Amino acid sequence: MVKTKSVYVCSNCGNDSSKWLGKCPVCGEWNTYVEEIINKDKPSAKSGLHVFDTDKAKPLPLEDVQTSEEPRIDLRDGELNRVLGGGLVAGSLVLIGGEPGIGKSTLILQTVLGLNEIKTLYISGEESARQLKLRADRIDSDSRNCFIVCETNLEQIFVHIRNLNPELVIIDSIQTIFTDVAESSPGSISQVRECSAAILKFAKETNTPVVLIGHINKEGSIAGPKVLEHIVDTVLQFEGDQHYMYRILRSIKNRFGSTAELGIYEMRQNGLREVSNPSELLLTQNHEGLSGASISAAIEGIRPFLIETQALVSTAAYGTPQRSSTGFDLRRMNMLLAVLEKRAGFKLIQKDVFLNIAGGLKVNDPGMDLSVISAVLSSSLDISVEKHVCMAGEVGLSGEIRPVNRIEQRILEAEKLGFSKILVPQNNLKGFTSKVNIEIIQVRKVEEAFRQLFG
Ligand code: TYD
Ligand code: MG
Repeated sequence: MVKTKSVYVCSNCGNDSSKWLGKCPVCGEWNTYVEEIINKDKPSAKSGLHVFDTDKAKPLPLEDVQTSEEPRIDLRDGELNRVLGGGLVAGSLVLIGGEPGIGKSTLILQTVLGLNEIKTLYISGEESARQLKLRADRIDSDSRNCFIVCETNLEQIFVHIRNLNPELVIIDSIQTIFTDVAESSPGSISQVRECSAAILKFAKETNTPVVLIGHINKEGSIAGPKVLEHIVDTVLQFEGDQHYMYRILRSIKNRFGSTAELGIYEMRQNGLREVSNPSELLLTQNHEGLSGASISAAIEGIRPFLIETQALVSTAAYGTPQRSSTGFDLRRMNMLLAVLEKRAGFKLIQKDVFLNIAGGLKVNDPGMDLSVISAVLSSSLDISVEKHVCMAGEVGLSGEIRPVNRIEQRILEAEKLGFSKILVPQNNLKGFTSKVNIEIIQVRKVEEAFRQLFG
């Protein structure tokens, strides 16, 4: 007789308990326990399911461990290579997460189709081979070395892998795959955990890189237990606004590179295009004479780019003024409005304020502050900011403008794009030695910046 037993598993941290709990005692989250059936008679994935036990690892003194550079596969995609830290490391397990329809499958399919000399197996649990072919036709590339199989059973997947012996494996998506050792349905915590552990074992033992595509739940984190993020070597997040063409690929965790890297793509009719010079796309071509727009020399990851901040201030029609912001943290905007009220004497209490960062991008750089308040003030006064002026600076609670990182890169980028003046925080230029063809104005307080901009 098959003995079954159910356990309750926390969907946040993966902790299990024999009874349901309202609050997880390990991670402290509420309402995260879900019931899962476990089958006692079946062997667990840990106890020798897999066929890839080549030679067993032996303990080695640390000094004898070889430290030659990990061999990396050049993915022929500058953005993806950079985000991965210089290419895909052999034997690494990479997880790409993102909302549905953002372009995860497109990005990966397009990448593998461009790798003609690498034998790739694309395992699709979501789309049929025909759908994939239609997509590949849209992307318009011909590859002889990309094999497709629609399969969701992990044991079958390993059979295909053994038969084909690919150099790169793609699994789209990890939530659709299930293994016979776990009883619960695909996408459940124990399935995701068992499958990814088995795939990790395969990747490490055969030194084959594997890319997993993962779904995101409504809170914006990768669906499945947090352990999934712990298991893999690299977690990338593909994000963007569905209504805009731009997509950002961020590295959230990377055992083989920096997490400060960022890739920008544009979704086209025929696939994704790398955006190697973001500034040119993120600036409205001609905003001369328009109030409410200001340009910030921002840094995302380690790349500088110039981006337009747009604000609209209008008289509040109802009692409570509306505040809305796209691409910029709303709480931070409210803080900046309070600073503006105190320092510039504007009665923003009676005004609706709308803020938008051009291109549908989400920017986290604190150096955006100065351009946010300049745009709000510009709209409120209905005076435009001069066309060739840009700025960077964090604004503190007392209206002081605080230094920002990588000021040199910001200034050089602004110069490169033909700006004639840049406002920067005072005392931020220590060690800045380059000769530049752009007027640098140092400002200490927001009042000084306003005087420079609006006279
Ligand atoms: P997809 O890669 O299927 O998203 P995910 O795998 O993250 O769910 O992307 C689907 C969207 O991308 C779809 O709405 C159509 C759009 N798209 C294009 O605009 N151009 C293209 O060439 C392709 C293939 C898709
Ligand atoms: Mg997909």
